[in-house]
Amino acid sequence: MTTRESSCLSSHRITEAVTHAAFEAESIFPIGEPNDAQTAHAVSVAIDLGYRHVDTAQAYDNEADVREGLRASGAARDDVFVTTKVAENVLGSCRVKPMVNQVLAHVGHTPFELVDWCRAHGILAEAYSPVGHGTVLGNPQIAEVAKRYGVSVPQPCIRYCLQLGLAALPKTGNPDHIRANAQVNFEISDVAMTALRIVAPITDNGEAAHFPVYGGKL
Ligand SMILES: NC(=O)c1ccc[n+]([C@@H]2O[C@H](COP(=O)([O-])OP(=O)(O)OC[C@H]3O[C@@H](n4cnc5c(N)ncnc54)[C@H](OP(=O)(O)O)[C@@H]3O)[C@@H](O)[C@H]2O)c1
Repeated sequence: MTTRESSCLSSHRITEAVTHAAFEAESIFPIGEPNDAQTAHAVSVAIDLGYRHVDTAQAYDNEADVREGLRASGAARDDVFVTTKVAENVLGSCRVKPMVNQVLAHVGHTPFELVDWCRAHGILAEAYSPVGHGTVLGNPQIAEVAKRYGVSVPQPCIRYCLQLGLAALPKTGNPDHIRANAQVNFEISDVAMTALRIVAPITDNGEAAHFPVYGGKL
């Protein structure tokens, strides 16, 4: 569960900002190996490319690097949406309802009921791992959809999330991938969306499998 760092934006602007291409700052390095210059640089590159949402967490130990990247970008603070992580199960006790719920969601693993629940409660569902930690890259069904639209496999994966009403948090520190992941201004047809919805469950989480959030343990 995440909440916005500052509460000055209206919920409309928050939704607008989040559904714009997002960028996950933790992504650049494994947790525990923060690198100021590269993290800050990737954040700055992403902002220059039009990203307006950066996700971080205290546990990632890179909040200061994110701040430096934002400063270096020159973007006005009010125009950038920064999320960090707070505890789960806060709905019963919080005074301000969380605006966003980060959920594991990607082609081959979409929690449709949870997404509906978030929508019914006025909470924006935000897909982390929209590229399935890279496991989708070799998926032939997704590759077929990507080919139809003349894009790379991660792009329809991100677009799929957006068309389901999710914000998408693709993770990469590669400038070419940062750029490609923002180029999702195409419309996946209803037929292709249906094909993506029924892609066989992706159960092999690759190198990410040891994380509890991917192993079905949380
Ligand atoms: N809120 C929560 O409870 C929670 C829990 C777990 C994780 N998370 C967050 O979710 C993130 C999960 O990361 P993830 O790895 O599963 O994210 P992901 O975006 O699904 O996958 C990232 C992988 O896809 C590759 N990739 C991304 N864009 C690409 C492109 N355009 N072309 C080719 N390859 C591309 C990346 O490689 P390159 O680096 O080479 O681009 C990387 O290997 C973490 O950063 C973490 O912060 C949140």
